[in-house]
Amino acid sequence: MSGRSWIIVLMCFCVKEGLGQGDLYLIGAGIADITGPAADVPLMGYAKPDQYAGGIHLRLYSRTIITCELDESNCNVFVNMDIATGASAINIKVFEMLRDRGLGELYNEKNTAISATHTHSGPGGYHQFFLFSFTTSGFQDDSFDILVEGVVRSIERAHNNKKEGYVYLNEGELLDTSINRSPPAYMNNPSSERRRYDYDTDKDMTIAKFVGEDGTDIALISWYAVHPVSMNNSNHLISSDNKGYASYLFEQDMNDGAPMGQGDFVAIFANANHGDTSPNTAGPRCIDTGGPCRYQTSTCNDRAQLCIAFGPGEDMFDSTRIIGENQYVKAKELYNSATTEVAGPVGSVYQNANMTHYPVKINETYTTYTCAAAMGYSFAAGTVDGPGEFTFFQGDTTGNDLWDAIRDLIKKPSDELIQCQAPKPVLLPTGEMFTPWTWAPAVVQTQILRIGQLAINLVPGEFTTMAGRRLRDSVRDVFRQNGVMNVVPVLTGLANVYTDYVTTFEEYQIQRYEGASTVFGQYTLQAYQQQYAMLAEFLVDNTSPDPGPPSENYLDEQQSFLEPPSVDAVPKGVSIGDVYIDTDRRYRQGGVASATFWAGSPRHDAKAMIDSTFVSVEELHHTGDTHLWIEVFNDADWSTRFYWEKKVVTEDSTQSLATIRFEIPSDMPLGTYRIRHQGFYKTKDGNLQHYEGFSSSFEVIRKNYKRGESPIPTTAMPTTI
Ligand SMILES: *[C@@H]1O[C@H](CO)[C@@H](O)[C@H](O)[C@H]1NC(C)=O
Ligand SMILES: *[C@@H]1O[C@H](CO)[C@@H](O)[C@H](O)[C@H]1NC(C)=O
Ligand SMILES: *[C@@H]1O[C@H](CO)[C@@H](O)[C@H](O)[C@H]1NC(C)=O
Repeated sequence: MSGRSWIIVLMCFCVKEGLGQGDLYLIGAGIADITGPAADVPLMGYAKPDQYAGGIHLRLYSRTIITCELDESNCNVFVNMDIATGASAINIKVFEMLRDRGLGELYNEKNTAISATHTHSGPGGYHQFFLFSFTTSGFQDDSFDILVEGVVRSIERAHNNKKEGYVYLNEGELLDTSINRSPPAYMNNPSSERRRYDYDTDKDMTIAKFVGEDGTDIALISWYAVHPVSMNNSNHLISSDNKGYASYLFEQDMNDGAPMGQGDFVAIFANANHGDTSPNTAGPRCIDTGGPCRYQTSTCNDRAQLCIAFGPGEDMFDSTRIIGENQYVKAKELYNSATTEVAGPVGSVYQNANMTHYPVKINETYTTYTCAAAMGYSFAAGTVDGPGEFTFFQGDTTGNDLWDAIRDLIKKPSDELIQCQAPKPVLLPTGEMFTPWTWAPAVVQTQILRIGQLAINLVPGEFTTMAGRRLRDSVRDVFRQNGVMNVVPVLTGLANVYTDYVTTFEEYQIQRYEGASTVFGQYTLQAYQQQYAMLAEFLVDNTSPDPGPPSENYLDEQQSFLEPPSVDAVPKGVSIGDVYIDTDRRYRQGGVASATFWAGSPRHDAKAMIDSTFVSVEELHHTGDTHLWIEVFNDADWSTRFYWEKKVVTEDSTQSLATIRFEIPSDMPLGTYRIRHQGFYKTKDGNLQHYEGFSSSFEVIRKNYKRGESPIPTTAMPTTI
């Protein structure tokens, strides 16, 4: 059964019951830059400690949509960040800041959900649990402060933009954009259940369209399950990956040429039950032989590192473009044709749950419990989207003596934990590890937001395809039993706190990466189904459960193991900002211009670079005798890439270079351009100085220009202003 039937049901209702418009709500949308330090901080996602940021591909944003009853009596807030995961540390500080700024009454833990797209190319260091910060050299204040401030700004902007409007829903199928990366686990689900679905990942995109009463476009939320790992673990550029590129295309399309982050229309591309999905649709293959990987273990020659999935594109940028564009095109089509009107109350329900000993009712007479958190052996194998190190492989249900011995040196798991987690062989008993500080959350935030018949389930991890379907079914049943027959349940993972993966009981038995990363044991999903069904009961009743145990707060214990950025230096005779390699004199439309500058570390003063840019492509405009350079692209744009690398590192200083690569659009107006680079550098006495530099000017000439012709037709001389 798929979503198509609810659309039909609802449309019949509308006609028969003669319902007119949906309900009128107060709606606000806001966006804020959260790009963070663009150098020397490890990226978060692939857990690769040497994958440091070194420049910018696409800027990162926090996007917020607030929906309230007309009298503001009830609001809910959906925040989505272009980073790897939601994190309880972010929530703690965001709610503190909202209270300080007088917005705490309106927007709080109960009605505000803070989720993430799951890009693997954002700076890390914002987690208070050590499992998620030991590969990011601990907790990084410079990443964290920018995230918190950005989320709050996007909420404030949405708050200040509120106006009356309507919400519409739509749903449609998007193929060729995801594959299942753990088929052996999926195939262990009962065949009767699998037969209900055409595919082994969810291909349905659900969208919510927000429009003003006057017909102005306000915002979009799309839910579609696909991992944003088109940019692979060799990437060092900050990037919002395929989800962020879909937002970029949608916002550029709707905002009439406004620079990124400055238009009114906000397009959120949220994730869903993407746990076992991959965007690398050409699938995995052995990189040594070109042949297929082993099915059960995703290895070649016993090595996980040799089995890699590739995207549909020529390289990772091209794959990001294709997977992002697919989502944008489908969302736009669904947005334009959305007619299902949303009607009913705005609501929210929230409860903290301690997942280490959660009672799971199996049947009338038998109750079992979830476990203290632990990671299995296959967690260390990684996935075909980014394999791990050593000889770990997926599908390991036994473990081995060597690694058990090494594990016991770090932390010997209790017998109780080992038994509870079976058949998972425990590699890291994270729920029992508290040095140098707590390794894994025990208390999780569980939450549902409601806008009429739309029920947004915020889940604290990455649900696999089938796990997500089961959770939505549990919530759908409760709404229907309570008379809300047209309920549309969606699921967004990576919300509020991060607890790795959630598979079904059957998938857990196979212990692929996702099962090995289902931290609370084989009954984790059943526990969440129970929990969210219970929440749904309260939500349809418009009452609240008890809040549960307090959220964990270990912010005082956090430390960074990263050195601050060093003093910047240059060789004799040049200054920071000077050109090292200049642009050519002319480029064809569709070509690639580039220039390299002596630079300072982009990690300095990351806050000052918010809503700013390291890169400007400027166009020359003439007015009579005076001329003016006007920015036409910046570092948030798809067509620019800003690479930063160290050239000479000494004990007390670093010489570094910034290379700007500009893909000239094939319809770029012919004219005169130049590349500008700016940033901050640190002097010997520790002060930060702003700097800028310019390439020589260059002409953009016709794509099909031939030698001997005039490169620039007189009709296309630079525009005057
Ligand atoms: C990442 O993608 C690049 C192409 O952009 C490719 O050369 C490289 O092998 C890929 N690396 C991994 C680990 O997938
Ligand atoms: C969670 O529950 C376990 C088992 O009941 C308990 O030992 C632990 O202290 C609780 N954790 C928190 C943070 O409340
Ligand atoms: C309840 O579940 C337990 C454990 O799976 C099983 O042993 C027992 O037979 C079940 N009882 C009933 C009444 O189904």
